[in-house]
Amino acid sequence: MGVMATPTIDRALYEYPDLEEGRAWVRVNFVSSVDGSAEGADGRSGSLGTDADQAVFGLLRELCDVVLVSAGTARSEDYGPIDDGLLALVSRSLDVPDRLKVPGVLVIAPGAADEEQVVALEGAGVEVLLTGEDEVDWPAALAELGRRGLQRVLCEGGPSLFAGLTALDLVDELCLTVSPVLVAGDGQRISTGGESAEVPLRLAHAVDVDGTLLTRWVRQGR
Ligand SMILES: NC(=O)c1ccc[n+]([C@@H]2O[C@H](COP(=O)([O-])OP(=O)(O)OC[C@H]3O[C@@H](n4cnc5c(N)ncnc54)[C@H](OP(=O)(O)O)[C@@H]3O)[C@@H](O)[C@H]2O)c1
Repeated sequence: MGVMATPTIDRALYEYPDLEEGRAWVRVNFVSSVDGSAEGADGRSGSLGTDADQAVFGLLRELCDVVLVSAGTARSEDYGPIDDGLLALVSRSLDVPDRLKVPGVLVIAPGAADEEQVVALEGAGVEVLLTGEDEVDWPAALAELGRRGLQRVLCEGGPSLFAGLTALDLVDELCLTVSPVLVAGDGQRISTGGESAEVPLRLAHAVDVDGTLLTRWVRQGR
């Protein structure tokens, strides 16, 4: 049997829009099963990923200035630092995996975060950005990323971070891969918890790559 070639994804489908100076654009990327689960049968999203999904995942990382991910997903998906890039990790507890206690990681946390843990992370070369009090002040955090020229944000989840950004209407677009599989079970959706919201979207593209459906949805009016 021949080896399957990595699918080529048209970059033009995923270019970020031209942005005013300082404006951070939040792109969110998720994969889901056809029956709406963000987790495969093993409880991780990786097992939902097809070759086409992995190709998009890699392309989106190439195109962004910073990867934003919640600490829960970083822990469960065993995240490491990003090669030649910045990983912004979102946490309240500051329970950061050891392999992410390195330069090239920026931790975003609310002002009420434990001071000793902040000092320990900084000692390991991690930058800690504290905003807000009990909760991260997202408009301020995104403004800070934009101010640093990190305007093309790629949020890789997880579901509670996505829900929180949605409730604040801070999600500019969602790249959603629908993987050709049913998984049943109790896997969570791509967005869970927090306040309900109704954010209107327009479909920018829907492309079938070897049976995987790649979609991009942009916030209406943006
Ligand atoms: N299908 C996909 O594409 C996809 C993508 C990503 C994740 N997932 C799946 O999602 C699951 C992980 O979900 P999860 O329940 O752990 O949720 P999660 O949203 O990944 O992580 C929750 C944790 O992230 C931190 N966090 C989230 N929002 C925050 C905020 N606004 N401010 C400060 N900290 C915040 C907190 O970390 P602390 O506990 O450190 O305070 C919180 O406990 C895994 O099964 C993973 O496979 C799927």
